[in-house]
Amino acid sequence: MHFELTAAQREVQARARHFAQEEVAPLAREADERGEFPLHLVRRMGALGFLAGAIGPAYGGSGMDHLSAALVYEELGRADSSVRGFLAVHAGLVAACIHDWGSEEQKQRYLPRLATGELIGCYCLTEPNAGSDAASIETTAWADGDSYVLDGEKIWITNGGIAHLAIVFASRDRAARHRGICAFLVETSAPGLRREPMADRELGHRAADHARLLFEGCRVPASAMLGPPGEGFKVAMAALDHGRLGVAAGAVGVAQACLDACVSFARERRQFGRRIGDFQMIQAQLADMAADVEAARLLTYRAAWLKDQGHSATRETSMAKLFATEIAVQAASNAVLIHGGRGYANGYPVERYYRDIKGLQIYEGTSHIQRIVIARELLGKE
Ligand code: CAA
Repeated sequence: MHFELTAAQREVQARARHFAQEEVAPLAREADERGEFPLHLVRRMGALGFLAGAIGPAYGGSGMDHLSAALVYEELGRADSSVRGFLAVHAGLVAACIHDWGSEEQKQRYLPRLATGELIGCYCLTEPNAGSDAASIETTAWADGDSYVLDGEKIWITNGGIAHLAIVFASRDRAARHRGICAFLVETSAPGLRREPMADRELGHRAADHARLLFEGCRVPASAMLGPPGEGFKVAMAALDHGRLGVAAGAVGVAQACLDACVSFARERRQFGRRIGDFQMIQAQLADMAADVEAARLLTYRAAWLKDQGHSATRETSMAKLFATEIAVQAASNAVLIHGGRGYANGYPVERYYRDIKGLQIYEGTSHIQRIVIARELLGKE
């Protein structure tokens, strides 16, 4: 058993850390306040090989292993969850999904441009009446000659307003539940597709783009189907296995950022004539945070490593997402507490970590859903 990163993995980690600390972190507070995604970072991430990291050079990717991709998510998560969230959707839910399920024509057509950032991807599963129960989607896909006509509404679509390409899940037979679902590659310029920002302001991820997409007689060629007919639910779940690893690694990054901020604050802040880090109650919180971060990191790296060995790692990915997001929520809460009044205002980044981290516990499957996935693997499903 080896716990050392390889030279190639260390190089990716250093590249991602440099980019995250030098180019992403300095923009995070302003992007959060303005509620605007720093779009110029997309091409930069393309140039750095992050947008299609785990995809081979034949399709424009950099061919890194899944563990390296997790290191990228972790470093971005330390700097800004909105940027890390962009990448988990674009690279994990979209590019990796096309790579796994696409025809040769679809891969050649889209992957190289997703890899550079010429195209931005989004993943359209969630609907007003279908969140955790993804098989109950109401968007329909009616076959009409050599095309399909899509009708329905998708909400909370990360990158939805800025994307050029959407993976859209729709049912051609709602009575068949998940077996009626098909996946489609839809260019967002398609007639019959309308987009608008989500109406309400979110607690966190304020720099991320979240949109509502309306499909009103949106006609796509039959060749736009991704994966076999009726297998769309499996396409969706397999994509989430990629995306959830990105969320887990991002949560490790947030928890690490909380620990870093607290250690530095505990060294400099003085009360009762001493550094607050000299008080045992603060020390206990820092020690627990450090142990939790390491445990979450090991679960996440192991899930990535299993994928690199060719295993599906669904259970391990859900364990990593569940544990990493839960401990990061706790770390962010304690980080605000340790910073006291300063932590409650946006002069220190822990206030943003606290708001952002709640989203990671919810999107790409809530903690409840991760527990269901884990328990089903333990017990089997009748
Ligand atoms: N990989 C491949 N296939 C899978 C799979 C996986 N990880 N998980 C399940 N399947 C297959 C099953 O084997 C089964 O196949 P058969 O038809 O051959 O039996 C089929 O899919 C149905 O599986 P289930 O019976 O387990 O399905 P279910 O309806 O009980 O749902 C669930 C299971 C885990 C609860 C699922 O609905 C789920 O993950 N829900 C959460 C959805 C989610 O994460 N939504 C977030 C969307 S993205 C987002 O957050 C916003 C954004 O912009 C990114």
